[in-house]
Amino acid sequence: MFNNIVNVIEFQQNRNYLDLFQIVLFSTFHKIKTTEYYICTEKIRRIMYNCKSLKILCQLIVVILFLSFTNNASAAVAVPDVVATDAAGVAKAKEGMALFKANCTACHAIDKKVVGPALTGVWDRWESEDKLVAWVQNSGKLIASGDPYANKIFNEYNKSVMQSFPTLNKEQIQNILLYIKNPGVAAPVAATPAPTAGTEANTADSSNWLLWALFGFLAVLAILLWNITSKLDKVVREKAGEVVEDKTIVEKVFSKKTYKTLLFIGSILLVFNVFNGAIDLGRSQGYAPEQPIKFSHALHVGQNQIECQYCHTSVEKSKHASIPGLQICMNCHKYVKQGPKYGTEEIAKIYASQGWDPDQSKFVKAPKNFEWIKIHNLPDHVYFNHSQHVKVGGIKCQTCHGKVEEYEVMKQFAPLSMGWCINCHRQTEVKFADNKYYSVFQKYQDELKKGTKAKVTVADIGGTECQKCHY
Ligand code: HEC
Ligand code: HEC
Ligand code: HEC
Ligand code: HEC
Ligand code: HEC
Ligand code: HEC
Repeated sequence: MFNNIVNVIEFQQNRNYLDLFQIVLFSTFHKIKTTEYYICTEKIRRIMYNCKSLKILCQLIVVILFLSFTNNASAAVAVPDVVATDAAGVAKAKEGMALFKANCTACHAIDKKVVGPALTGVWDRWESEDKLVAWVQNSGKLIASGDPYANKIFNEYNKSVMQSFPTLNKEQIQNILLYIKNPGVAAPVAATPAPTAGTEANTADSSNWLLWALFGFLAVLAILLWNITSKLDKVVREKAGEVVEDKTIVEKVFSKKTYKTLLFIGSILLVFNVFNGAIDLGRSQGYAPEQPIKFSHALHVGQNQIECQYCHTSVEKSKHASIPGLQICMNCHKYVKQGPKYGTEEIAKIYASQGWDPDQSKFVKAPKNFEWIKIHNLPDHVYFNHSQHVKVGGIKCQTCHGKVEEYEVMKQFAPLSMGWCINCHRQTEVKFADNKYYSVFQKYQDELKKGTKAKVTVADIGGTECQKCHY
């Protein structure tokens, strides 16, 4: 067997990966004796050493993969999949849905972060069902008991305390989990699509570092393999009578060839990035600039319950929602001179701009021009109409703008990408009932009545046709 290797190197003039594979296989399964090392030449010995390190690396990878699998297996809580025909399962999932909606949706959604984490996949994050049940019943108690995962997630969420549900029993919590894993069977017609915006994949940290470790090993493996191939190459070339100078691995790594390759990869990445950046222009999800006056939607909408339309006057009537001018603010701020957080400072800016003197309670100067920093900005080639969505479509502002009533600072909640618009059009059912706008779609009306069509989506009425959204 040992001769095989020497044969491979000595007699095959053309290096190929099959040779290499043979060598790796050989040194993995054959214990090479020290004496055998001495038989061969210095060069071949070096190759053998390299093969040995390769072998160790491969073994480590196998161990890590094994660990990661067992880790997942022991850390999971079993939640079964329910199919639509399984009546008992569906009933349980339905009960779970009712419980979830009544108790949990204030802070949780299935597939996105709200106040608490997205709950999908939660069964993989907990090591036992009992702990998960204990958490829901009284998270504080579990945290106090020193449970590491409970403490970790508590700290991750800035120590916000989850409400306790001591009245929920184990079976009810199992049903909630059943629903979260099988939302489709409990509510077969997804009437309100979950907004795709703000979805946050909650990858478990533990699998993350395993991935990185694997990545590191593979990188080292690649370098070693490359080192071996280049050595084999050298042997073959010397055999053919060439004089090849000896280079250390460090010299090889920092050779001109490497720089050239890096430069090539770098320029590709650069081009890609510039391209991506251009596509992302004006499409900055999460954009939340500081405004010239620190206006808070949380205070005005959340606390003082002012309707959106009071300020965004044209949202139901026209394409644009309109951003209010400061004269609207004066309706109230002629009288409200102080705020809870900034005192008179921010409100004084309204007065200054409007030329109002609060001491005399009258306008003393002509109003100045004032502009808010615009946050949402669709490209010019896109047609979007608020009135169509809010008034005709009956979609709540929050579906597209998030929980505005909680924003201290306004932000762009949705990605405003084409995919975002189209996804919603595919999923959202058109509200036909009492809607004169749709009388033209008599065919669908009839089909709905006959029951040959379960629902009509925006896409059905042409909501994915290019010219509907593009000028
Ligand atoms: C008042 C807000 C609130 C309510 C209501 C609430 N939760 Fe939570 N929940 C949280 C927060 C916040 C966390 C994150 C951990 C922390 O800070 O305590 C959390 C964490 C969790 C976790 C752990 C998530 C993970 O990633 O491991 C589960 C499971 C959970 N909640 C289930 C529920 C269920 C089931 C209900 C309804 C019966 C519910 N929660 C109701 C706020 C809430
Ligand atoms: C008291 C007046 C007032 C009320 C009520 C109000 N807003 Fe606003 N809104 C403003 C002002 C002022 C701005 C511009 C400053 C800022 O961005 O915070 C704004 C900005 C916005 C923006 C971002 C505009 C941009 O630049 O792209 C959105 C979206 C928005 N509001 C939605 C809502 C929704 C939804 C409601 C109701 C839930 C609401 N607003 C209620 C005054 C108001
Ligand atoms: C319908 C009445 C109403 C309108 C319209 C209104 N506000 Fe207010 N505003 C209030 C009330 C009420 C308070 C809170 C007073 C308090 O809690 O002490 C307030 C407080 C404030 C504060 C102080 C915040 C703080 O924490 O110190 C600012 C700044 C402010 N408003 C800006 C505006 C701007 C800008 C507009 C116009 C876009 C506007 N408001 C329109 C009623 C209104
Ligand atoms: C179907 C999703 C959707 C709904 C529902 C929606 N908006 Fe918007 N909103 C958008 C988009 C998209 C933009 C960006 C428009 C642009 O840049 O031309 C926007 C922009 C805005 C702006 C900035 C000014 C403008 O018109 O560009 C305000 C203010 C606003 N929305 C308020 C509201 C209010 C208030 C409601 C509820 C009455 C609401 N929106 C409902 C998607 C929505
Ligand atoms: C949350 C869901 C939702 C999102 C997001 C959404 N739409 Fe819509 N859209 C609707 C609904 C519902 C209707 C149906 C109302 C109607 O028939 O007029 C509609 C109708 C339309 C129509 C009229 C279609 C027709 O056939 O008459 C246009 C144009 C449109 N949307 C453009 C957009 C654009 C552009 C975006 C993204 C910037 C967008 N929509 C994002 C739900 C959405
Ligand atoms: C429901 C509305 C909607 C429909 C239907 C739609 N688009 Fe778009 N499209 C958008 C929006 C919104 C953007 C802006 C996306 C952005 O700024 O990233 C866009 C951007 C684009 C762009 C510019 C590239 C980019 O990512 O910025 C092209 C090209 C385009 N659309 C082609 C099409 C074609 C072709 C169709 C028909 C098959 C189509 N669109 C149908 C909403 C729509």
